[in-house]
Amino acid sequence: MGITYFKRYRMQIDLTDVVRRNVPPLAEGYRLVAWSEPLWAKHAEVKFLSFQYELDAHVFPCLGNRDGCRRLMQDICSRWNFVPQATWLAEHYDPHHGWQPCGTVQGIADGQECGAIQNLGVTPAHRGRGLGTRLLFEALCGFWQAGLKEAYLEVTVQNTGAVRLYERFGFRPVRTLYRVADVATVG
Ligand SMILES: CC(C)(COP(=O)(O)OP(=O)(O)OC[C@H]1O[C@@H](n2cnc3c(N)ncnc32)[C@H](O)[C@@H]1OP(=O)(O)O)[C@@H](O)C(=O)NCCC(=O)NCCS
Repeated sequence: MGITYFKRYRMQIDLTDVVRRNVPPLAEGYRLVAWSEPLWAKHAEVKFLSFQYELDAHVFPCLGNRDGCRRLMQDICSRWNFVPQATWLAEHYDPHHGWQPCGTVQGIADGQECGAIQNLGVTPAHRGRGLGTRLLFEALCGFWQAGLKEAYLEVTVQNTGAVRLYERFGFRPVRTLYRVADVATVG
């Protein structure tokens, strides 16, 4: 194991700019499901499937295993500042198995004014179709409905695809943070 520092951005957006946005409709065969408590395990499973092979599973080891994702999800949805309106599950329709979860985002409030996006994730087979953008948009609209005025998220700088998605959406870096992690070294 070796100690590694991961550079991360805190990125922020003013929600008044967001609610005026036009976001393309969902691709055919997809739907978004609003939060309800029995969905917590589906969110946890999608979180695991979305993050298990990704950089952030090194930065936050709990994201790289199923139990860790279940604990994290239970922790998020039982917090007093959990924002159900900002928490969405994406599903796709499979002719053999019906609606299957494939994306997740959760929101919590940080103080009176600010929403914090938690763990946006789309499973690998469903990326690049606008689901991540759409989940983010719905989460931000949920913050707005909950009376919040701005939102932020944190992203690992090396996660260039995600940083690009957030920048395109209008998020701007407001702070640089370093997260220390123990990462298995090869050789
Ligand atoms: C980041 C993520 C949520 C994007 O979901 P998505 O449904 O592919 O997003 P969209 O289709 O709305 O947008 C696609 C954009 O996402 C980015 N992206 C990141 N990884 C991607 C992948 N494997 N396939 C396609 N797009 C990807 C790209 O910026 C792409 O836009 P561009 O290449 O046209 O500039 C998804 O790749 C994911 O779950 N990654 C692993 C978990 C993660 O790192 N989450 C972010 C934590 S801060």
